[in-house]
Amino acid sequence: MSAVDQSILYTFTKSKTSPAPADMPIVTFHKNGQTYRDEVAPKSNLVVRAGIKAYPYPHLQYQCGMGKCATCATRVLSGAEHLPPPNWKEKKQLGERLDQGWRLTCQLWIEHDIELQQD
Ligand code: FES
Repeated sequence: MSAVDQSILYTFTKSKTSPAPADMPIVTFHKNGQTYRDEVAPKSNLVVRAGIKAYPYPHLQYQCGMGKCATCATRVLSGAEHLPPPNWKEKKQLGERLDQGWRLTCQLWIEHDIELQQD
C-alpha cells in the first residue's frame, strides 16, 4: 500500500470513527465553589485527560489512576444512570460512599453528559 493509499485510508477511517460534535459528552465539574464545564470525546477518562493536562486539569484531584488511592473520588450529581455499576476497586475504596453517589473518576469512561463534584 502506498503512502497516498494509507493517507486516504487513515482519513476515511478517522472520519468514520470521529464523533460528531453532538455526540460529545458535556462534563460539568464543581470544586471549591467553582463550576467548570467542557465537552470531551466519548469514552474519555477524566484522570487520563488530567494527566495530559486536558480538561479538567488542574481542577481534578487524582494520584494513582488505578483505583488504589481514592484521591479521585467524586460525587455524581447527575448522569449516574448512564454509568456502569461500580467495579470491585470502587467498592473496596468507597464502601458506603457508593450509596451517596460517589465514584472513582479514574474508573469511569464518560459516554454521556455528567455532573460531578469533588471536595
Ligand atoms: S486516582 Fe487513585 S483511585 Fe483514582
